[in-house]
Amino acid sequence: MAKLGVNVDHIATLRQARLTDYPDPVIAAQIALKLGVSCITVHLREDRRHIREDDVRRVRELANCRLNLEMAAEEEIIKIALDIKPDQVTLVPEKREELTTEGGLNVAGRVEFFSALVKRFENEGVPVSLFIDPDPAQIKASAESGAEAIEINTGQYSESKTEQEAAERLEEVKKAVALATGLGLTVHAGHGLTEQNVAPIAAIPNVDELNIGHSIVSEAVIVGFAQAVSTMMQLIASASLAVK
Ligand code: PXP
Repeated sequence: MAKLGVNVDHIATLRQARLTDYPDPVIAAQIALKLGVSCITVHLREDRRHIREDDVRRVRELANCRLNLEMAAEEEIIKIALDIKPDQVTLVPEKREELTTEGGLNVAGRVEFFSALVKRFENEGVPVSLFIDPDPAQIKASAESGAEAIEINTGQYSESKTEQEAAERLEEVKKAVALATGLGLTVHAGHGLTEQNVAPIAAIPNVDELNIGHSIVSEAVIVGFAQAVSTMMQLIASASLAVK
C-alpha cells in the first residue's frame, strides 16, 4: 500500500497572507503525524512565499517525523538543507513566477550535475529523490545519477480534461513506475492529487509514497469551517451576555 506524505506548505500560505503567526504549519504537521502519515513535506522556496527556514527547523525537531525537504538545486537552499539534514531531499525545478512546481526536472540533460549533487547529499547521509515527469529518458538518467528515489510528477494526469486523457496519462505513470522499480529506484508520486483522482494512482503497485498538499489543506478549510464559525458565534454571544 502506498504511504501518505503530507505537504503542509499551504498552511503557511494562509499565514503569510496576513503575516500573522497562525495558522502554524508545524501544528498541522503534528496533527498529520498523530494520524500515522509517513512523512511531512515542506518546500523551502527561494522567495519564501510560504514555508520559512524556521518552519523547516521546527518540523525537523518534531519527534517521530520523517522530514522530506522539497527544494531547488540552488546553492543557498543546498547549504540550508545540508545544515538541517532532513531525512530526504526532493529536488524540484523552481521558477519565481510559477504558481506551483510546473513540471519535472531535466535530469537527462544534466546527469553529471545531478550525480555530483546526489553524492554531496549522500556524503552527509541525506538521500535524494528527483521529481521528474513520467518520461523513460528522465527515469533512466535519474537511476544513472545515483539517486535513491524519484517522485513521478502526476500533474499532467491530475490536470487531464477528459476521461480518455486521464487514462492515457495514468498509463504513462504506470509504465514509469514499472521502469523505475526495475532500475532499483524507490518510487514516490505526487502533484495535483485530490480525493477525486487519487484512487487509480494509489492502486499502482510499487508506489512507495504519495505526496499530497494543496487538496488536503483545501478540504481541511471547508470541513473545519462550520466549527470555526460556530466557535466565533459562541464567543460573541457570551461576550454580549457578560455585558448585560
Ligand atoms: N510533489 C512535489 C514535488 C511538489 O512540488 C508538490 C507541490 O508542492 C507536491 C508533491 C504536492 O502537490 P499538491 O500540493 O498539488 O498536492
